Amino acid sequence: MKEEDIIEAVKQFAKQTEARPNYYETHLLPTMEEGERWCLKLGADCFVVRIACLLHDCGYSFLDSWEHHEEAGAAVAKKFLEEQGVPEKIAEQVAMCIRLHDGKVTENDPIECRIVNDADIIAYYKFIGEHVKQWIEGGRTKDKTIAFHINHAKMHWNDLRVKEMKEYAKQYYEEALRYLEAMR
Ligand SMILES: [Fe+2]
Ligand SMILES: [Fe+2]
Repeated sequence: MKEEDIIEAVKQFAKQTEARPNYYETHLLPTMEEGERWCLKLGADCFVVRIACLLHDCGYSFLDSWEHHEEAGAAVAKKFLEEQGVPEKIAEQVAMCIRLHDGKVTENDPIECRIVNDADIIAYYKFIGEHVKQWIEGGRTKDKTIAFHINHAKMHWNDLRVKEMKEYAKQYYEEALRYLEAMR
């Protein structure tokens, strides 16, 4: 199977397993686009990064809460990729990136994993308004939603692991915080 055919299959699977309506368009695809740009600049394996970005949150749809969605997502993604005929080594690299996203990655982990981790955070900052909207539409109160995201945005600032990506993220982090503060 060609790489582009695999990416197409992964995109379909990411849509089917999106955490909530519009999550693919407002988070998974933007994370992939962010990851793609940085893997070209930083010389990482783009195939691994693109797949891991698209599937990084697929664990959500198999759980009642988001706790441990990294572990669940890594297992689901690995099984799906092996069914698609993706070599085990690549499936394992993708699974590792998913397992380590959400701040569990360290400076010593592969560059692909650090890029996926940071791309997730940058895409989150860029689409903060959409996340807030989706949370409120999902039945949470505005106050709770805003308070959670202010905390979450600040926490993720300390989770960024690629120097160049953190420098780039600064503007979007500050914009996200300004947006959230203005909504209070
Ligand atoms: Fe996540
Ligand atoms: Fe995410």
